[in-house]
Amino acid sequence: MLLHLLTWQEVEAYLQGAKGVIVPIGSTEQHGPNGLVGTDAICAEVIAKGIGEATGALVGPTINIGNAQHHMAFAGSITLRPSTLIAVISDYVASLARHGFERFFFLNGHGGNISTVGAAFQEIYAASSLSRGGNAPGVRLALKNWWETPAVQKLSKELFGKREGSHATPSEVSVTQWAYPEAIKRVAMGEANGRVRAFCDAEDYRRLFPDGRIASDPTLAAPEHGAKFVAAAVTDIAEEYRKFATAA
Ligand code: NI
Repeated sequence: MLLHLLTWQEVEAYLQGAKGVIVPIGSTEQHGPNGLVGTDAICAEVIAKGIGEATGALVGPTINIGNAQHHMAFAGSITLRPSTLIAVISDYVASLARHGFERFFFLNGHGGNISTVGAAFQEIYAASSLSRGGNAPGVRLALKNWWETPAVQKLSKELFGKREGSHATPSEVSVTQWAYPEAIKRVAMGEANGRVRAFCDAEDYRRLFPDGRIASDPTLAAPEHGAKFVAAAVTDIAEEYRKFATAA
């Protein structure tokens, strides 16, 4: 169930039997020569939707702009400052908490969001700890990176081995090709640069990785692989969501 396709009465009815919501969070940033700028948001959104269908959980609107400052030397990338993203997450959670949601499961599509989402969680918990008395339950927050489940990792290893790389990967490009077959790009490309040291700002990233990829070969991507990745992620993460939503 997608929040933005429900009426307020339907949301109210959902809250009679559940307190959990899945929040897809991604990024709008370059993904190499054949990857869509929306890749990270699309992956998070379609997998969250699948988990919602498997568990009956409500899926909130996708936060489709994240921390992508290091991609800003490539056209089309959009970034939020970490402080802005923390504010967005805090207000998103506070809004739904006002209606009675208590468990927020962030399904993440972008590695660059991880530390900031963690900081946002700490801000939310700190505000709760500093403002409330007694021992009443507050909101509970979780972050899951879709590409880190055992089944997804196994599939990536089998299909792509070392050619998976770490940015503009054939796994994530496959998921977008499955979701949007009309937007598949066929582009020839040579070997991508590997990571020799940590990158810093946007200019530094572009110097190190001129076509945007890090060590990946996304020409291996295919929509049928994407279907398998989505199914693997949904199976693994649905179980994790159920536990999170119902744990004491
Ligand atoms: Ni990505």
